[in-house]
Amino acid sequence: MSQTAVLQTSNDAPFRGITLLSAREIEAMRPACRLSSELLDFLTPMVVPGVSTLELNDAAESWTKKHGATSAPLGYPGPQGAIAFPRSICTSINEVVCHGIPNKKDILQEGDIINIDVTPLLNGYHGDSSRTFMVGEVSPSARKLVEVTEKSMWKGIEAVKIGGRIGDIGAAIQAYAESEGFAVVRDFVGHGVHRTFHAEPQVPHYGVAGKGKKIRPGMVFTIEPMLNEGSHEVELLEDQWTAVTKDGTLSAQFEHTLAVTKSGVEVLTKMPAAVLA
Ligand code: MF3
Ligand code: CO
Ligand code: CO
Repeated sequence: MSQTAVLQTSNDAPFRGITLLSAREIEAMRPACRLSSELLDFLTPMVVPGVSTLELNDAAESWTKKHGATSAPLGYPGPQGAIAFPRSICTSINEVVCHGIPNKKDILQEGDIINIDVTPLLNGYHGDSSRTFMVGEVSPSARKLVEVTEKSMWKGIEAVKIGGRIGDIGAAIQAYAESEGFAVVRDFVGHGVHRTFHAEPQVPHYGVAGKGKKIRPGMVFTIEPMLNEGSHEVELLEDQWTAVTKDGTLSAQFEHTLAVTKSGVEVLTKMPAAVLA
């Protein structure tokens, strides 16, 4: 079975189209988005050799509860044939592209890279963000992958313009990533996010400028490029969640949730907030 490009939730049929949020609804999303940034900050000093991904998960879970939120990944329904996601965060080490499942046997080692993806749910809204961390000293090539991936996310964010098209985002990311010698993952995409975790529109991280849906005020979506050192191809492990690079090379990812408003583009999961005109 080939993978679907986006994790669709059952209550989010594509025909419903894109939900545009009012200014008030965007306000209501801020606390969840702020929490995702603070949660990643909280986890940062724990990302050291010897820690297990389950310890990171458990710390994230209790921190999230303490802040009055729940963890949207926990129990999130999987694609057909998969179990619901059994943990509160995703931890994706080295060749794992995304959706790694925290486990007590996965112990971080010096030189690893690990993406931690968090999605607190607060006041009915999701804040979806991830970063890739370098564990101790990493190889120059791993460092370059991580740095280019983060920069590619920002190139995508900068391509968001009212009246522009969703395809502008992927085109900007792909041009930069490929110019640096990396491949952009096709099988997972950014997504609308609000009361629904995975909503329209799908936001590919590759593509053609000028194509795709028009970008309008009120749209709230993620940009979350995954870049591979080798080929863009991925495969799923037996658990039906963990996506790995087909060729075993490293993969990195960064993710922000952003809102398009009349005054520009606001990165909701960045603290302090940034408005790009
Ligand atoms: N946070 C991920 C994303 O960026 C989705 C994780 S779904 C889960 O879309 F079930 F794996 F947690
Ligand atoms: Co996301
Ligand atoms: Co995420």
